[in-house]
Amino acid sequence: MPHVKWHDIYSVDNNAIDEQHKLLFDLFRKLYDICMSDKKDVAYGPVVEELLAYTVDHFSAEESHMKDMLYPGIMQHLLDHNEFVKKIEELKGADKPDNSEFCLDLILHVVGWIYDHVIVEDKKFAEYSRCR
Ligand SMILES: [Fe+2]
Ligand SMILES: [Fe+2]
Repeated sequence: MPHVKWHDIYSVDNNAIDEQHKLLFDLFRKLYDICMSDKKDVAYGPVVEELLAYTVDHFSAEESHMKDMLYPGIMQHLLDHNEFVKKIEELKGADKPDNSEFCLDLILHVVGWIYDHVIVEDKKFAEYSRCR
């Protein structure tokens, strides 16, 4: 899992958003490291909060960027953002029998989202911007 890192080919041609994506990858690795450590019982909570807060800020910036360029796919993109936030909040509030199960669900969901959303869906507004 440590190979989950940002590469130039993931760029969306916007420096601010690229920097935010890099930080999201960093946060994911931090979460992964904590979940794999023997400190997970006490340490994962603040990282999940950090990930959630940062993601909400990032989504807001990205949505402004898409509005500015009149991106036609914005409505579906907004739904995807909302779904991600809802899922992380659900996982956070779920009654898990142990923290290992919670961490595994969280890691699988976040890494899946990084690949499906950041690398595929976010690239679509960059493509749109390039072809205008
Ligand atoms: Fe994004
Ligand atoms: Fe996005």
